[in-house]
Amino acid sequence: MIEKKQEQLTLKQYTESNKAAWNEVMPLHQKAAKERWDNAFIQPGFICLEKHELDLITRIGIQEKSIAHLCCNNGIELLSIKNLGAGECVGFDISELAIQEARERAKRSGIDCQYVQSDVYDIGPEYTARFDMVYFSAGGLGWLPNLKLLFAKVARMLRRDGALCIHEIHPFSEMLPFDNYEGDDVLRVIEPYFMAEPYVEYAGLDYVGGTEYDSTIPQYWFVHTLSDIQMAMIQNQIALEYFAEYETDISAGHQRIEQAKAGIPLSYALLGRKGDTR
Ligand SMILES: C[S@@+](CC[C@H](N)C(=O)[O-])C[C@H]1O[C@@H](n2cnc3c(N)ncnc32)[C@H](O)[C@@H]1O
Repeated sequence: MIEKKQEQLTLKQYTESNKAAWNEVMPLHQKAAKERWDNAFIQPGFICLEKHELDLITRIGIQEKSIAHLCCNNGIELLSIKNLGAGECVGFDISELAIQEARERAKRSGIDCQYVQSDVYDIGPEYTARFDMVYFSAGGLGWLPNLKLLFAKVARMLRRDGALCIHEIHPFSEMLPFDNYEGDDVLRVIEPYFMAEPYVEYAGLDYVGGTEYDSTIPQYWFVHTLSDIQMAMIQNQIALEYFAEYETDISAGHQRIEQAKAGIPLSYALLGRKGDTR
């Protein structure tokens, strides 16, 4: 059940509520997939990146580079990046349970990644000018209410000439029905592109195990348009260096649209470069 929220909350109220929702669902994700990922990463050099994600990451060259993954969840993409030859790797996530799982798996598989429990807006000064790349993967940006503030944080964390890399769900696709929509017309526009307020949702974050449940915790999801993203980059002197759009569903919720092969953008990859002026 999705509603449009009328009442405005503070940034902290949004992120704390989202944190509670993620801590609530993590045991279900772990029940469905933890053992599988544990076993996978025991194999030396294991990588679990989607093909366009891998293209994006290899495009900038990560050998020995220091990488931060924001909203890293259970850490598997960062373990893959480390296995591809990156240098220092630090993942940040607001959910204690996600970070605990990531740390345990890194330790068990002997892969040298650090994981830090933090709201991305609260990442501390010890991470200033520390990274060659700050990365966001599928389903990260939508939980974050303020992109201008977020990219200011990213710009501070990057070294000179460092890269912002994003592999994300395309905002255009948020206008179209998800797979649980009961109608057949999956290419019908049912939501606006421009959303002043976030969606508020109380059900089902278990896209891993598929358990359906009703939550009492509101989750807030922000649709950031392509212009919102580019303006937040411009406001923080991050220059666009590469941008690509794909028909591949990385949301786990638009499989029917992907299968329709109707030329709909479902995901994108973006590379931004921090300016020399900071
Ligand atoms: C869908 S996951 C994205 C990671 C990965 N691509 C995946 O699919 O598992 C979203 C993650 O964002 C985290 N998150 C949400 N709001 C956050 C915030 N304010 N600061 C840090 N992490 C946040 C959640 O805890 C969750 O682990």
